[in-house]
Amino acid sequence: MNQYIEANKDRFLEELFDLLRIPSVSTDKKFKDEVVKAANFLKNSLLEAGADNVEVCPTQGNPIVYGEKLIGKDLPTVLVYGHYDVQPADPEHLWLTPPFEPTIREGKIYARGACDDKGQTYMHIKAFEYMMKYGQLPCNVKFMLEGEEEIGSVHLADFVRANREKLQADVILISDTSMISNEIPSIATGLRGLSYMEVEVIGPNRDLHSGVYGGAVANPLNVLCEMIASLKDERGRITIPHFYDKVEELSPAERQAMSEAPFDLETYKKELGIEEVFGEEGYSTLERASVRPTLDVNGIWGGYTGEGAKTVLPSKAQAKISMRLVPHQNSEEISQLFAAHFQAIAPKTVKVNVSFHHGGEPVVVSIDSVAYKAAEKAYEKTFGRKPIPKREGGSIPIVAMFKRELGLDSLLMGFGLDSDAIHSPNEHYGIFNYLKGIETIPYFYQYFAEMSQK
Ligand code: BES
Ligand code: MN
Ligand code: MN
Repeated sequence: MNQYIEANKDRFLEELFDLLRIPSVSTDKKFKDEVVKAANFLKNSLLEAGADNVEVCPTQGNPIVYGEKLIGKDLPTVLVYGHYDVQPADPEHLWLTPPFEPTIREGKIYARGACDDKGQTYMHIKAFEYMMKYGQLPCNVKFMLEGEEEIGSVHLADFVRANREKLQADVILISDTSMISNEIPSIATGLRGLSYMEVEVIGPNRDLHSGVYGGAVANPLNVLCEMIASLKDERGRITIPHFYDKVEELSPAERQAMSEAPFDLETYKKELGIEEVFGEEGYSTLERASVRPTLDVNGIWGGYTGEGAKTVLPSKAQAKISMRLVPHQNSEEISQLFAAHFQAIAPKTVKVNVSFHHGGEPVVVSIDSVAYKAAEKAYEKTFGRKPIPKREGGSIPIVAMFKRELGLDSLLMGFGLDSDAIHSPNEHYGIFNYLKGIETIPYFYQYFAEMSQK
């Protein structure tokens, strides 16, 4: 670790803790003021680190923090993207320490957003601070930090379109993914897309006594469960017609390369407390969780869920269902296929409504770009080993949007681990990962600037 990081690591942690104490939950309007507070916090951090033209840009929704340091017209420009909004903390009672009171246990920072994405965003500001302090910033840098990633980046595309000139860059740099392990670094080379749906199954015009009417009137909850169950067959394949039409099959060489990536199924099962894994027949766990599309119920409700037992045949049942998409599948197309199919399989006993929440397109990142090569060299320098390219199962919809609106590729230098429990209770981020990120990022800038000139 370099001297500056060593000497300042306590302050780096304290500052991140202050950011983590702000409950900037974007899914819930009651945290609106906190979201703005987090934006202002980052504005000040950028200013203190030495950025110019720092602003909190209002949008129709949550603000976008912008800042820059432009040092030479002939130098390449890195545009850093990150998000300061977080997922809700619930179920809160499962947290060992409160989600917005960051706590260190066994070398890890426990807090909502510790990894996703406050910790990973803040690394970039501290890496920038370091480069500024030592006069080592080798290229131009722009920061664009948003507060709506967890709700589908609703207003980011408008902002990007309105600021095309200002956002011009050579590469977009994002730390919002994970690596294989602390010993085996990896760079994300792909993300899945997303179609997020909500369905409503409506039966009788009111809740009924399940004794008086049960057996004679279709129960929307039963119907919904049957419909959902039919969306996958016994081979784990999604049954929606034409769902797989555009799915790209990996070449035997690509599959071979994936099978060589370090992965231990036993550890995986043990860590999750499961006896057996599940998934589409004919594919490995790594493939199922990255290069294959999938469908999952995220929530299902209706009827009586309170204490005790109430005998009721509910009039309505609802569910949130998401599909993860892979290259060449299109979010809107898949949403339409889903909606048409879900209507088609509904029995006459119920009415069905299907609506669409948000989506995003899948992406693949080239490993032949200057940016990728520079990142590879940076990891090699700080981890002492070459990073492995790894396709991720999660989604960052703005990556495809940046390509479309700005013509720019993103480089996904994530330092989290899959075991960091993002979106779950007890989310955490290793102090090792936080500091390693701060250490690795400046090398990326250095190599990127050097290699861009050739
Ligand atoms: N940082 C995650 C995405 C991620 C996590 C990618 C781990 C790769 C590895 C991001 O904040 C996120 O949660 N994205 C959402 C999509 C969004 C539209 C709500 C997701 O993947 O569910
Ligand atoms: Mn994220
Ligand atoms: Mn997230």
